[in-house]
Amino acid sequence: MTLLKSGTYSVNKKNKADGLQLLADINDGTVAAAFFDPQYRGVLDKLKYGNEGKSRGKARCELVQMSEETIVDFIKEIDRVLKSSGHLFLWVDKFHLCQGILSWLTDTNLNLVDMVVWDKGKIGMGYRTRRRSEYLIVLQKSPVRAKGCWNDHAIPDVWEEKAPKIHPHSKPIELQKRLIAATTANGDYVLDPAAGGYSVYEACKELGRDFIGGDIEYGED
Ligand SMILES: C[S@@+](CC[C@H](N)C(=O)[O-])C[C@H]1O[C@@H](n2cnc3c(N)ncnc32)[C@H](O)[C@@H]1O
Repeated sequence: MTLLKSGTYSVNKKNKADGLQLLADINDGTVAAAFFDPQYRGVLDKLKYGNEGKSRGKARCELVQMSEETIVDFIKEIDRVLKSSGHLFLWVDKFHLCQGILSWLTDTNLNLVDMVVWDKGKIGMGYRTRRRSEYLIVLQKSPVRAKGCWNDHAIPDVWEEKAPKIHPHSKPIELQKRLIAATTANGDYVLDPAAGGYSVYEACKELGRDFIGGDIEYGED
């Protein structure tokens, strides 16, 4: 089955688009792995950094935020487009990690199978402890199995890598590359519907995987 329903979006392109519209154009069960890094409103609501909203936090504040309802809509769509036993790598901050994200998986075929802590190697902000890590929750569409679906058994679950300086929320290219290599094969499609600085696309280019993704603010029309 072809990946896309129309000619509106392109593979291996930075599609400037609403992620839910892009997802609606993808056929069921065609994507091998997906990354989703929502623009959490919770970070701003809950951390209440003294300087957020002033000059230091400006770049972050200007990004379009997602309500929890929107995040769930994205997850349901990603579930639909994933192949059986395909993976969704979901980036979360510490508050969502502690509160739990399992309610977001209701009415999906997604199962929690693992988690990686990303150590940015650099201390960030925080009123109490100061942030140095982020969390990548690993979900797998049913049926859950590792054999034949995850072929690298040497990936540590704490990963140190500096953030690329492309986007205020850029994620580690080498970690994402390693995970894509572990869970996909040549000819597979990798999805990122809220791609920001396109770190997942960079990882795909280095690995020779086909990328489908976009961002509401960044990319080409
Ligand atoms: C946390 S950032 C992603 C960073 C990305 N993982 C990287 O490595 O650069 C979230 C992105 O979601 C985008 N966004 C917000 N709402 C969106 C929507 N409805 N559709 C697509 N992108 C959206 C924002 O513009 C922002 O760039």
